[in-house]
This record gives sequence, structure tokens and C-alpha cells, in this order.
Amino acid sequence: MLNGSGKVRTAVLVSGGGTNLQAILNARGEIIRHAEISLVVSNRSKAYALERAKAAGIPATAISAKALGGREAFEQELQRILEIHKIELIVLAGFLAILSPDFTRRWDHRILNIHPALIPSFCGKDYYGLHVHEAALARGVKVTGATVHFVNEIPDGGEILLQKAVEVLPNDTPETLQRRVMEQAEWILLPQAVETVAAGMLADPS
Ligand code: GAR
Repeated sequence: MLNGSGKVRTAVLVSGGGTNLQAILNARGEIIRHAEISLVVSNRSKAYALERAKAAGIPATAISAKALGGREAFEQELQRILEIHKIELIVLAGFLAILSPDFTRRWDHRILNIHPALIPSFCGKDYYGLHVHEAALARGVKVTGATVHFVNEIPDGGEILLQKAVEVLPNDTPETLQRRVMEQAEWILLPQAVETVAAGMLADPS
């Protein structure tokens, strides 16, 4: 047990609509039993995900790299807030900024990310959000999916935890494919991964 509560204090980082955050919130007490969602941080003040957090009664805040003068200051502020909330695990749920090697090293094996493709396909710096599905359709793949992985200094390069395949249909648009990947893979995998990692941390706090 890390903090004495029997649950791993977890922060979810977001940038947009927050459907993956919602899947995590909905899984509390069912799939997710060993993590407490203690904080939501957005790098965009207008992200709808912040409203979802507030509706669930979870502390939520936005930090702007631009307003603070860049990524280094953003990460300093993020670290400060994470420490205030005694966070032990970070989940990137549609967080569309890249974290520095200094930050990812500090949180080694303590940051999870969901990526909307089967890594190593359609991943890395320029692949995020709808662009991933546009690229999959342009390449003509018949199967895509989602991946949950630990975050290290290489964008989408950390150890893979879970993957799930999703069929591409003949008339798919990036939007219809994105929705199917979310419904059939992302919203299922991410809560499972949070639970597995949190339970593992409680069993072996090293
Ligand atoms: C999700 O599809 C997520 O996998 C993707 O952004 C979307 C966010 O949706 N993340 C990435 O592309 C990260 N490289 P959401 O805000 O509704 O969860």
C-alpha cells in the first residue's frame, strides 16, 4: 500500500472531449478497484473533459504551456500539482502533448497512455487523434485497434500492456473508424490497464 488508503492515487491527463476519462470514471468500483481517480489535468482550458471531471466531483485544473512560457515550465507546474495531490500514477487519456524525457524518467513505469492504433503501426510524434485513423484508412489496412502502453522518452515507444484489434469497414471515414476503435477497444482496455497497474503497484510498491 503506497498511501495507506488501499488505492493508488491516480491523475488523468486530458486535452479534449474526455470519452476515455469517462470510461475510467464509469469503471470505478467495477473494473477499477485499486485506483482512486484523484485529479484531472488538462493542457487546454476549454477541454470538455474538465466538465466531466467536475460532474464527477473530481478536482480538475487546466495548465497552459503557452501561458507559462513553454514545456519546461508546464512540466514544473504539473509536477507541483501532482505532488500536492499525492499522485502515484498518471494516465494519459487523450493527452495530446509530448512529455519530456526528464519527466518520463521521473515517472518511470508510472505513466500509462492509450493510443488509437496497434503500435508499432501509425504511432509516434505526428500520430494523434483523428490523424491516426486518416493514416490507417490512407494505407488501406483492414484491421486497426488500440494500445495501452507505459510512457517512456520515445513517443508511443514504451512497454506495451494491452492491445485490441478492431475491423476496418469498407465505407469507414476517419470519424466512424475513430468511434468504433473507441467503443470496441479504447474504452475497454484503458480501465483494465489502470486496474492491472494499480493492483500491481499495491502488491509490489517498489
Ligand atoms: C482517443 O482516441 C485517444 O486514443 C487519442 O485521442 C483520442 C482522445 O479522445 N490519443 C492519441 O491519439 C494519443 N496519441 P477522448 O478525449 O474522447 O478520450
